[in-house]
Amino acid sequence: MVLHDAQVVGFMPQGSGASAAPDGSPPPGGVWPDLVVRGVGKAFSPGAPVLADICFSVPAGQSVALIGSNGAGKSTLLRCCMHLIAPDQGSVQLFGQSLQAQTASGLRGLRAQVGFVFQKHNLVPRLSALSNVLHGALTRTPPGRAWFQGTAPRHLRDEAMHCLERVGLADHALKRADHLSGGQSQRVAVARALMQRPRFLVADEPAASLDPVSGDEVMGLFASLVKRDGLTLLFTSHDLSHALRYADRVIALNRGRIVKDTPSARTDATALRSLYDIANPAADTRLAATL
Ligand SMILES: Nc1ncnc2c1ncn2[C@@H]1O[C@H](COP(=O)(O)OP(=O)(O)O)[C@@H](O)[C@H]1O
Ligand SMILES: [Mg+2]
Repeated sequence: MVLHDAQVVGFMPQGSGASAAPDGSPPPGGVWPDLVVRGVGKAFSPGAPVLADICFSVPAGQSVALIGSNGAGKSTLLRCCMHLIAPDQGSVQLFGQSLQAQTASGLRGLRAQVGFVFQKHNLVPRLSALSNVLHGALTRTPPGRAWFQGTAPRHLRDEAMHCLERVGLADHALKRADHLSGGQSQRVAVARALMQRPRFLVADEPAASLDPVSGDEVMGLFASLVKRDGLTLLFTSHDLSHALRYADRVIALNRGRIVKDTPSARTDATALRSLYDIANPAADTRLAATL
């Protein structure tokens, strides 16, 4: 069952008014979508595909939620999209560049424009929030210079402070990361991603380990950054309410295949829940329980 009732939304660069062809090629004189995924497949063991024939694209400035039960393939797909794992089939284009055609340094250059946020924030616990944010600059500064707030150049420290201000944590800049709450830690991780000056944010279940209030705060923060700065966002979530509230578009995965791709305004939790119930009766009940 494939319900691509509005997959075309993936091909409409915001603000350009133009639409690109379904193969991901840009419209005449138009803008490449930030991400174009064509026919991606992945298996970790022979005969057991985790992803099959995945096709979608994400225009600049769009916020897309990838939903699906546990084991549906969401994290694997995010990783394949950035070639953190090489797909077995298909192709991925990021910012108009084919990832398989890149050298290792070309790939690093493209990924440096993507800010990653994961379920576990992976902060360095004994360092301050400010030092952790500075680490977001490591891809564009000589090794060592951006590691500690005390040795980082003034302009980087100022920029890191600005990133902390944007996530509402300027007052906690000098606090050790392991003295922050879960929600504050995840906001520092978002600030660290912003320090990369990304065009694109990729977040794998960024709210999953947070309490509902902190989870809403973090998702609201993503949504406001995306809208204000025109960033592109691709996030996975178990929480249907987060997908519907914070994404322009929802893509549902089931057993490694896209089973629905729709603007979030054109669906609701009941429709998404029923899709899961029908498509995979054994689906993780956590998903169905999120609303
Ligand atoms: N590195 C890996 N090696 C082997 N199997 C993996 C690996 N990563 C993921 N898988 C398997 O792929 C399937 C999809 O996993 P994942 O992408 O993490 O799903 P989701 O994020 O939707 O929960 C699962 O069955 C998982 O066990
Ligand atoms: Mg996952």
